[in-house]
Amino acid sequence: MPSNQPMSNPVQAKPAVYRPSRRDGALRVPETCNMVIFGASGDLTHRKLIPALYNLARGGLLPANFNVIGFGRKPKSNESFRAELRDAVQTFSRTRTIDNGLWERFAQGLHYQQGNYDDRQDYEALHQQLTHIEQSHGACSGRLFYLATPPEAYQTITGKIGETSLGKSCPGAWTRIIIEKPFGHDLQSARELNEHLHSFFNEDQIYRIDHYLGKETVQNILVFRFANTIFEPIWNYQYVDHVQITVAEDLGVENRGAYYESAGVVRDIIQNHALQLVALTAMEPPAEFAPDAVRNEKVKVLKALRVDDSRGDGTIRGQYGPGKIAGKLVPGYTQEEGVSAESTTETYLAMKLLCENWRWSGVPFYVRSGKRLPRRVTEIAIQFKMPPLLLFSGAAAQQIEPNTLVISIQPDEGITLKFEAKVPGAGDTIQPVLMNFDYGKSFETPAPDAYERLLLDCMLGDSTLFTRSDEVEAAWGLITPVLERWRNNVHDFIELYRAGTWGPKQADDFIEADGRKWRVL
Ligand code: BG6
Repeated sequence: MPSNQPMSNPVQAKPAVYRPSRRDGALRVPETCNMVIFGASGDLTHRKLIPALYNLARGGLLPANFNVIGFGRKPKSNESFRAELRDAVQTFSRTRTIDNGLWERFAQGLHYQQGNYDDRQDYEALHQQLTHIEQSHGACSGRLFYLATPPEAYQTITGKIGETSLGKSCPGAWTRIIIEKPFGHDLQSARELNEHLHSFFNEDQIYRIDHYLGKETVQNILVFRFANTIFEPIWNYQYVDHVQITVAEDLGVENRGAYYESAGVVRDIIQNHALQLVALTAMEPPAEFAPDAVRNEKVKVLKALRVDDSRGDGTIRGQYGPGKIAGKLVPGYTQEEGVSAESTTETYLAMKLLCENWRWSGVPFYVRSGKRLPRRVTEIAIQFKMPPLLLFSGAAAQQIEPNTLVISIQPDEGITLKFEAKVPGAGDTIQPVLMNFDYGKSFETPAPDAYERLLLDCMLGDSTLFTRSDEVEAAWGLITPVLERWRNNVHDFIELYRAGTWGPKQADDFIEADGRKWRVL
């Protein structure tokens, strides 16, 4: 068994210097701008957006005179909007204790406007309110529109912003739009949405969000790879046996059954979060840390990927049945609210990808993700090849395990390298040991939430951590044929797994047929 004891002292922290487009590392405060949130009564606004903005205000990172107008269909006053957002910050912010003085100042900038997404007059009224706010500060300011609505409303809202004066900030000021995932539901719809957006906005005004890219540990993949010399020379087919990427959740679909029915794990996690992890792991070093240079490299990886369908269709799909999570009984997927009793939507997927380029020729990338697995864990594990010649014979040699480098995205953020060591004593026993880097121990400052980083970057005009139109299409280009095969093979089974287990047994058989095993997490 591997020892969990670190072999070295935790890495000594130096001041952070990684800002992709800001090489001096300085934290910049955006110039004056205001934000409109469509879907202001929804979950995302309460759980993520307002807590993130509040924490930016706490860190002194919001622009002066920053205002938010929440636009939503439900009637409510500014006061009730502010009161419900205060509760949201209290409940969901990473810093739970509200600073009353700060909140009062922050809340003065929160406004609500009721409206319908398809009513032009409501957009004119919104424009008036926004202009009034801008004029009260006497300066031209940027406009940030955040679409936190169901995806069906994206075209209507962006069309109305584009057609009305809303989308035309005064000269010299910018207009940007943040669009949540899912961006389309297949290649065709993603293309249509891109075309629609491009008919109103330039690509550099469109910020497609994938919150995984805002996670500190995900950003650190590039720093780890490209700010160190020792790993990159072995980061290729000559040394790597395979890569395993796991995005496991213990949660079920919660109150999002209806959405999940149309998504499944492939659209919810694999097409976006998981493929971004693959792209960051596999990409070539960009020529510079600039938005397009980084995204060009990711697009190349996404285009080089293919699903290995040499056995079956290269995927194993599963759906959770009733079971136990942390000792508590939980219902099966088809018993969840909003889910059809006959549903064949997948809540688990394992797939084998091949990246057909020089660096990764023949190296499988096994990707798995599921809901109601035993615990929440996201990691990238690079498993290296066995030494070319085993000098140690007998029992000692049989215990040798390949080196594995694990990048833990969550919840135990860090990086671990497993290697072999001799057990002290007269015998020849060999045992794997771990070299650990633990974020919590090495850095004192708690990591900001992904949305804090992404909202700030958008206000600063840095799109490095947002997905470009060709990137999102390349990801759909890989996934859409899989979805089509499933649709055409209606007699294929979806495998059931008990909630609280690591997915269907067929997923184990799938990787074991290649002489490999899923990591035990
Ligand atoms: C979202 C999915 O994009 O990511 C959710 O829609 C999922 O279904 C969530 O639970 C996982 O995010 P995180 O940050 O908790 O890993």
